[in-house]
Amino acid sequence: TENSSYIIVLDALGHGLHLYYGGQLEHRESFENLYSPMELGQGCSISASKDTPGLSLNNIPREYGEISRGDYRLGSVELQDIQGDQAWDFTFSEARILQDKKEIPGLPSALPAQDTQTLELDFKDLANRAVLRLVYSVFPEWDVITRRAEIHNLQDRLTVKNLMSFSLDFSQGSWDITSLPGRWIAERQIHRRPLQQGITEMNSRRGISSHDCSPFFMLQHPGSSEHQGESYAFSLVYSGSFSARIEQSNREEIRLQLGINPQGFSWELKKNQIFHSPEGVLSYSSEGSNGIRRNMHGFVQNHIIRGPWQWKDRPVLINSWEANYFDVNEKKILKQAKQAADLGMELYVLDDGWFGHRDDDTSSLGDWFPHAKKFPRGLKPLAEKINALGMDFGIWVEPEMICLDSKLYREHPDWLVQSPSGLEPCPGRNQYILDLTREEVCDYIKDSLGTLLKSAPIGYMKWDMNRSLSDLYSPGLPPENQGEFQHRYQLGLYSILEYVSAHCPELLLEGCASGGGRFDLAMLCYSPQIWTSDNSDGFERQAIQRGTSLFAPPSTMGAHVSSVPNHQLLRQTTLETRFNTAAFGVLGYELDPGKLRPWEKKVIQGPIKL
Ligand code: DGJ
Repeated sequence: TENSSYIIVLDALGHGLHLYYGGQLEHRESFENLYSPMELGQGCSISASKDTPGLSLNNIPREYGEISRGDYRLGSVELQDIQGDQAWDFTFSEARILQDKKEIPGLPSALPAQDTQTLELDFKDLANRAVLRLVYSVFPEWDVITRRAEIHNLQDRLTVKNLMSFSLDFSQGSWDITSLPGRWIAERQIHRRPLQQGITEMNSRRGISSHDCSPFFMLQHPGSSEHQGESYAFSLVYSGSFSARIEQSNREEIRLQLGINPQGFSWELKKNQIFHSPEGVLSYSSEGSNGIRRNMHGFVQNHIIRGPWQWKDRPVLINSWEANYFDVNEKKILKQAKQAADLGMELYVLDDGWFGHRDDDTSSLGDWFPHAKKFPRGLKPLAEKINALGMDFGIWVEPEMICLDSKLYREHPDWLVQSPSGLEPCPGRNQYILDLTREEVCDYIKDSLGTLLKSAPIGYMKWDMNRSLSDLYSPGLPPENQGEFQHRYQLGLYSILEYVSAHCPELLLEGCASGGGRFDLAMLCYSPQIWTSDNSDGFERQAIQRGTSLFAPPSTMGAHVSSVPNHQLLRQTTLETRFNTAAFGVLGYELDPGKLRPWEKKVIQGPIKL
């Protein structure tokens, strides 16, 4: 890239060796000076072959490591062949440079620029059972390299038990890890600590990228700061369970990996089938955390965000949730919309409570038609009247969910994810997960969203997801394929999001998952903005947005001015403070404009104009 170099060579047997990733080096014919293999086997080390007694895979920096051949560090690829054999040895067979970047079947990924090049390295299993392909694409301007892996099965049946998107070995050195742990209403808090020997793992097992931990972290030189010092950033274009893990050996070498969380995961491949990992994103900067921010913001804005909203100014919205919760109806919403329009707001978003017979959080998820008592004439007259005020109209949905008290559950009880053992499925906010591994379930969601979007002029949709996955099982999968559930759920989700983007390209989609529980690069491929957190407190929001800003540009962070005392923390902050915080994201309001005092109305209008 413009400021970084990445160097791979092959060892004597053809294994990929990772020589260097860091600040740019001048080109040379050989970089052997960077490689000092431990030629002598140490006391009890295992040799890679009988002809190379000094070569132990455990002692060399590798580009990607299979297990069971004497490399005892974290494995990047774990496979089981038709006989149950788990010993694999992949050595180099071919390399290709493509003047482009391919899409990954079923998964979102970064869009190429005109000058994006891709390197494909094929490694063949010595017993000719599979090909491991490592794929690298280069985004020079943003000092970003994307990496991913594929397994091509050449035999009758193969089980993939683990396939990390990338693995990176660093030689000795002291490093800090900066990660973004959090929880509901306190997402992505910046946490920096020295890396220590042993394994450090940051992950999600929830089936969403989660509030607990973001699929983003940095390795930073201990002396680095906001403005200077070596920093590496790693992220994943994926919204499901992930594992980010770093192993530091007793010789202080580091192996770092990011990919689908292998816990409970397995994937069966038939002959000639391919398994594709999600795409990992790597970035280097010598200019500290802000250098990483510049790289990631440029990369996300140019290659992750797409569609007509990529470069368009986003409307200043008003969202009905904190003002009304479930208590919404046509008359009330129209009144609030009029007041909001007078203040200069540009989009009215009708949040939860508008559909089925939803009067609280115990019912109706799955029934995406207007509540007969609250909106007896449907949504069209409301949306049209709001449009006549010069505002766009938007709607809230939570399509991946089902409530027991719903028409959908009465018609399709088997679409609710649960164990066949008779164990009661675990509720979360009185709701359950729909089985997105099944095509008919995805088709239902596509149809009902399609019908909803055609029923009224809807310019914006907030896509919520308020619980983690549990009781994983699908009657649609044979017993030996149940380990595929979580990843197939993600593929189902992406297929629905693809459908919505293709059928309503002008729709502005805002992601959400109980606030910022799924704020990741994959969701940003579909929704150019994501509701950053349910915490709308003007002060605490700053830490959440600061953490999120390590990888996400301001144009992706939904940020609202809400009323005081704040609904989550009961804190009083001034209108200026709330605006000054929200203005660092996609500005919106989440309050009852009718309850504003005259001076507040005046104060609000200036910043909206600004
Ligand atoms: C959780 C979201 O984060 C909120 O903004 C709101 O949309 C509620 N869900 C509605 O149930």
